Amino acid sequence: MKSLLLIILLVVLCFSQKTPIPFKIINTPENARCLDGSKPGIYYRPGESKRKTLIYLEGVGNCAGPSEEAILENCYQRSFTQYGSSKYREPFFNSSMIKGIFREDDKTFGRWNLLIIPTCEGATYAGDVSVQYKNITLNFRAQRMLQHIFEHMIKEYNLDKNQHVILSGGSAGALGAYQYANYLQRILPHTDVRIVPDSGFFLDSPQPFQQILQVFGNFIKNDHYKTIFPQCTYQTNGTDFYKCILPKYSWEFIETDVFIIGSLYDNWALQYIYQIPCYNHFDQCDPATLQFVLSYGEIYRTLLGNILAQRPNWGSWLISCGFHGFIHTDWYSDKNFAIPSGSKHTCQKSLDQWVHYSFVTQQQRIEQAPYPQNKNCAYLSK
Ligand SMILES: *[C@@H]1O[C@H](CO)[C@@H](O)[C@H](O)[C@H]1NC(C)=O
Ligand SMILES: *[C@@H]1O[C@H](CO)[C@@H](O)[C@H](O)[C@H]1NC(C)=O
Ligand SMILES: *[C@@H]1O[C@H](CO)[C@@H](O)[C@H](O)[C@H]1NC(C)=O
Repeated sequence: MKSLLLIILLVVLCFSQKTPIPFKIINTPENARCLDGSKPGIYYRPGESKRKTLIYLEGVGNCAGPSEEAILENCYQRSFTQYGSSKYREPFFNSSMIKGIFREDDKTFGRWNLLIIPTCEGATYAGDVSVQYKNITLNFRAQRMLQHIFEHMIKEYNLDKNQHVILSGGSAGALGAYQYANYLQRILPHTDVRIVPDSGFFLDSPQPFQQILQVFGNFIKNDHYKTIFPQCTYQTNGTDFYKCILPKYSWEFIETDVFIIGSLYDNWALQYIYQIPCYNHFDQCDPATLQFVLSYGEIYRTLLGNILAQRPNWGSWLISCGFHGFIHTDWYSDKNFAIPSGSKHTCQKSLDQWVHYSFVTQQQRIEQAPYPQNKNCAYLSK
């Protein structure tokens, strides 16, 4: 009896324990380095399903500012943090952040190999330039860093022998997933490559977002981009380079299948692009602001609906509750977040079905009921 209890205890302990995910530096040349010049790194956890890999690009927006000077100052500050330098990375992925799709008991991805690529670049994964600023060289070299990381994965872990590779990412990481979809498929010709971008489908109006992105786009514009995303014709068109970064424009050039995850009322967009003070609690908005939020959701729903209608193989899970970044949180499988409210269609379930192509009629979920009609999650905030 005692030994049975002991075995049960051991089994419980084993299953509740999280395998530590170590940080590993990748040896790259000088034109493929983090903002501060340090070498990039990866977090990697091999899974039982040897031929399936989930790649996740970490978010954290571009260095922001209204002018090149301001952008550079912002990046200079970032180069002294883990988001601009591998020097400040912890030796293991923070175990309290192993949630959602990162969990080892996740039904869809738990047994897959997991590659988390931490960001240290500051330019929405689009850069290939280096600039002198103050007393250092700031590197915006995401393209070559990712190329080297993918090559490393092929050489060390046979990524090119995988059956399935899903490239995901949140926020700026989602912008990365959109931009590298075709490239990853090209270097993995025998693999079913798809992308699952989370909270990265931004609208670009009104000002000032467009201005910022245009300044930013001009600033990081580079020729090497055509080795990554040659299909995007905006890159050769004057000041339109930034449109290759934004899926609102670039979606039509993407050749892999895509599963778009997001909120119709993205908190980050409402806060930083539209300066909405009640971005985290719409019930506290004044009537005019609430009206703006609701009309934003309408525009978003219509735009995404039109795009998805042209891509029958693409999936989506777009809900009328506010958040920014979802699939790496507990909410991803939380029954309170379902489309429609009270149904069994959580993000986890919808994505799982799309990954396995097991539901043909309803791969695309865009919640039709506006805020706050999804009452189970409408009032939840982070
Ligand atoms: C790990 O994440 C938790 C929750 O996000 C945070 O409070 C904590 O400071 C992090 N630990 C380290 C070492 O970064
Ligand atoms: C650059 O200047 C800062 C602030 O004066 C200093 O802390 C840092 O060590 C300098 N870095 C280099 C590479 O000289
Ligand atoms: C290039 O820019 C011009 C002028 O802004 C625009 O009319 C044209 O449609 C653009 N072409 C592409 C392929 O982006």
